[in-house]
Amino acid sequence: MSSKEADQLPPHVLIFPLPAQGHINSMLNLTQLLCLSDFHVTFIVSEFDNRRLLKHTSTHSCLARYPGFQFLTIPDGLPDDHPRAGDRVTEVFASAVKYMGSYFKKIMTENDLLASPNRRPVTCIIADGIFSFAADFAEQSGISLIYFRTVSACAFWAYFCTNLVVEANEMPFQEKGMDGLVKSIPAMEGFLRCRDLPSFCRGGGTNDPILTSIITLTRQSVRAKAVIMNTFDDLEQPVLSNILKHVPRLYTIGPGTAHLKSRLGENKVAASIPSASLWAEDRNCIDWLKEQEPKSVIYVSFGSITTVTREQLLEFWHGLVNSHKKFLWVIRPDSITGEGADRIPAGLEKGTKENGYMVEWAPQEEVLNHSAVGGFLTHGGWNSILESIAAGVPMICWPYFGDQTVNSRFVSEVWKIGLDIKDSCDRVVIENAVRELMEVRKDEFFERADHLAKLAKKAVSEGGSSYCNLNGLIEYIESLII
Ligand code: UDX
Repeated sequence: MSSKEADQLPPHVLIFPLPAQGHINSMLNLTQLLCLSDFHVTFIVSEFDNRRLLKHTSTHSCLARYPGFQFLTIPDGLPDDHPRAGDRVTEVFASAVKYMGSYFKKIMTENDLLASPNRRPVTCIIADGIFSFAADFAEQSGISLIYFRTVSACAFWAYFCTNLVVEANEMPFQEKGMDGLVKSIPAMEGFLRCRDLPSFCRGGGTNDPILTSIITLTRQSVRAKAVIMNTFDDLEQPVLSNILKHVPRLYTIGPGTAHLKSRLGENKVAASIPSASLWAEDRNCIDWLKEQEPKSVIYVSFGSITTVTREQLLEFWHGLVNSHKKFLWVIRPDSITGEGADRIPAGLEKGTKENGYMVEWAPQEEVLNHSAVGGFLTHGGWNSILESIAAGVPMICWPYFGDQTVNSRFVSEVWKIGLDIKDSCDRVVIENAVRELMEVRKDEFFERADHLAKLAKKAVSEGGSSYCNLNGLIEYIESLII
């Protein structure tokens, strides 16, 4: 290759998500959006997750349509039989930082290894916003770093301001109780309760090591040259204006899946998106949905990390059966803790046969966009919420941890597209919530959800905010070639 040709090579972006489903999904969407601009992209995936992708998906063959794309697999430092879910998900993070972090540094110091005659060395790193080692490395190496935060802007802002909550003595909560309003987070003063703060605020007081490390980790996001968020301006504007005061550049490009679909359509590539599921999708549920009435089914799924005790499972189960609504329920094989999880309890069998369908993993995006689905009982993970918003489906949120406690408050109090039942999964609460969502307040929720879905569509269409921001991001990455 002549030096002139080498000069014309596109940017080479290294994308590095936390090895967890929600992070992989949103960062793979961005990957494809960049590949559509003919960028060269190296995507880091753990060896463990890569085996699952190869086993359960066509991700590898689908991404092979982009000549500039390559996977780079590295170990995550955990044994294969590690659960990587529930309480033990913190070990995934710790191990990713330790093992994947040191592999990353090694690979990057030998950056030429990632180059080839037809590919530049890495010109820009897009790392998961929770990897502070990437900022250390970028500062030492001079390679530009952009952070991708996979959580909502509202959760990110709540994380970012947690130190203000501590300084204002609003934590620990004993005095005002869990339902007291938090006053020290700008743009959330009127509605955010102590109960809605990120779950790590409930720990052991203001010196709690998890709390202090998450505050430090979030505030270091400003060290990157830019921050990318999977959201759209019309959805989170007041919060985004606040974040923009702290970060050098902010690119909101979501909803990622809807954006990718729209751009694939524009590029006349078949608009189907390769699933990056780490579990085998059970497509029989789509056949079951086809037999159901429009908007009659509540879809139930708690994402890739949540675990429930057998007791909680039974409360959900009774609540769903007692609501007499049709339900499609994803129960991951690894999601139930405690004994006897595989028996259908007496009394529930009939109601489940009549109204329910259970799978271990579903093609969620397709399910949410199915005309039979009229509601989503979710743990409030950000991908799930955004996918539901893009599909115009109202939600019941039962947050499990982290950002989900904030997201769920926004669903019920700000966007008013559903209910927040945090801290309770009593069978009566579930039954009433399902009825309220699917029957009593159905029209009102659908009207608002439909409005937001239209705004989401506008954001990712030509001229929309996310569409323009992606173009801005592409130009910015191009400008980083020295
Ligand atoms: C985690 C956090 O919990 C979340 O809050 C954070 O924003 C990202 O990382 P997770 O708990 O798995 O992710 O939830 P979520 O963000 O909703 O991501 C789950 C993804 O798995 C979604 O993209 C969803 O479409 C997909 N999924 C889930 C399936 O494809 N099939 C299923 O059956 C269930």
